Amino acid sequence: MTYTIAVAGKGGVGKTTLCGLLIDTLRSQGGGPILAVDADASANLNEVLGVAAPLTLGSVREDIKTAGSTDKIPTAMTRQDYLDAKFLDALTEEKDYDLLVMGRTQGAGCYCFVNGLLSAYLQKYARNYRFVVVDNEAGMEHLSRGILPRVDMLFIVSDCSRRGIQAAGNIRDLVRELGIRPGAVRFLINKAPPGPLDAGIREEIERQGLELACAVPRDDLIYAYDSAGKPTAALPAESPARQALTALFREALPL
Ligand SMILES: Nc1ncnc2c1ncn2[C@@H]1O[C@H](COP(=O)(O)OP(=O)(O)O)[C@@H](O)[C@H]1O
Ligand SMILES: [Mg+2]
Repeated sequence: MTYTIAVAGKGGVGKTTLCGLLIDTLRSQGGGPILAVDADASANLNEVLGVAAPLTLGSVREDIKTAGSTDKIPTAMTRQDYLDAKFLDALTEEKDYDLLVMGRTQGAGCYCFVNGLLSAYLQKYARNYRFVVVDNEAGMEHLSRGILPRVDMLFIVSDCSRRGIQAAGNIRDLVRELGIRPGAVRFLINKAPPGPLDAGIREEIERQGLELACAVPRDDLIYAYDSAGKPTAALPAESPARQALTALFREALPL
């Protein structure tokens, strides 16, 4: 059975960092094969994983749009053959995981096209993966309904601010309105300052009807890795953020 994990939260809170560490944790615990889907238009999961920038599904769409009129499609190939070949170019195969990047899409109908490509791939191959991990841009509104077979676990990430927590509450509501009914939800705060959470923060969490599963500390090692251009997924075991997330993953996921 494939277990699907989606990550949501407003920009900059640490979704991609979490996804990178999640993928690294899953693979190190023998949780492969994994499909990683970068569904953020400003894709950078590959950087966190330390993988060269892949061809995106958005660029496959651009290519297909022009290919017909510029004779790019070999005469022996149907348009569908060409599309299938291009799609495979966009699938980055790493040890234990494959990465698919949706990328930026321009103009009308492109979300549909890119969603369609992803949907067809998932329908055909999702069952071959033990885990599917989806890094989203904020909520999940750009992934139209029914694309993901089923979301087993939704991680909602916030920074340690009242407005961040309000945004997390909105995302929880949006996900519900989109008809995505995750099997389970875990809400976490990332980049928490040292010491117990401020009373105002705890009050806002309660007001939003959220339940805090984990407070991941602000971690200088992440900052150092980020500044040096090193993949954060390779953070050492002594990283406090990594330790907090590992504990969360152990509690929340079937590892
Ligand atoms: N716990 C943390 N401590 C310090 N910096 C962090 C932490 N988590 C994430 N970051 C940094 O915050 C920035 C935004 O993180 P990112 O994962 O790209 O967020 P998102 O995907 O939600 O936009 C990155 O520079 C990342 O390295
Ligand atoms: Mg991101």
